[in-house]
Amino acid sequence: MKVLVTRQLPGKWLDYLSSYVSVELWDKEYPPPRDWIIEHVKDKDGILVTLTERVDKEVIDSAPRLKVISTYSVGYDHIDVQYAKKRGIIVTYTPEVLTDATADLIFGLIIAVARRIVEGDKLIREGKWNTSWHPMFMLGTEVHGKVLGILGMGRIGMAVAKRAKGFDMKVIYNSRRPHNVEWQFVDLDTLFRESDYLVIAVDLNPSTYHLVNEDKLRLMKRSSFLINASRGAVVDEKALVKALKEGWIRGAALDVFEREPIGADNELVKLDNVVLTPHLGSATWETREKMAEVAVKNMLFALRGERPIYEVP
Ligand code: GLV
Repeated sequence: MKVLVTRQLPGKWLDYLSSYVSVELWDKEYPPPRDWIIEHVKDKDGILVTLTERVDKEVIDSAPRLKVISTYSVGYDHIDVQYAKKRGIIVTYTPEVLTDATADLIFGLIIAVARRIVEGDKLIREGKWNTSWHPMFMLGTEVHGKVLGILGMGRIGMAVAKRAKGFDMKVIYNSRRPHNVEWQFVDLDTLFRESDYLVIAVDLNPSTYHLVNEDKLRLMKRSSFLINASRGAVVDEKALVKALKEGWIRGAALDVFEREPIGADNELVKLDNVVLTPHLGSATWETREKMAEVAVKNMLFALRGERPIYEVP
């Protein structure tokens, strides 16, 4: 069996994969060009991709032997799952193992933007801390005791809600349907109106594309913050820039963007009330190794005709 792998992975798991199948690896840091994928997937039984590779009809059709697409991610919006399934190809992903790392980062973003941690760090590095201590210097917003709104109460949403307990926050949420959980289900507009911190934890699909648009942002409190570590395109970024510039909300913390990577010329970079991180949700050594294990085992199990650990529903 032959497998195409589009990026080096941490730990021993690629070696493990190579001991069972023949692996062709794109070993650069940047993503492989699309033409390279199309050319090299031709004779493969499996392809192990990351979220930067678009696996659409064209890629799938260029691989007549393809049986498995294993993505090293929880999101699968970069894959045409419906078409793959129609072709009888199994699509697998890596949920659960990255839930806690992502929830940790989301909480970090909440605190960073509310307490102006990045702004403070920048001020010191630029040699601009010249007021010493002052009662009104760099005041931020409290986190404990506030209302945490969660859009999408899946695994990551629940892990964020769990962490909020330690901060005595009131948790409200909206998702496709109410869950039997201890937190309060509210309708979408109420979620936007009442949240002090609104965390986006939905996946990207046609129904969530630009779900956070100008109308929704206008519902939010002027003192509130938007936090996104799911997919950039859930938010209409142009509308968000307007909201941040015009003070409809107090700030935002973003780990994901409509087009990644963003450069220093992006409008968001010019704003002080935003904390930006480069898609780091699952980026810990521990989690990325676990993801490698799951992505590789998914691939091997599915190639053998056994049930993978996580098949995309
Ligand atoms: C990261 O964004 C992932 O989908 O795993």
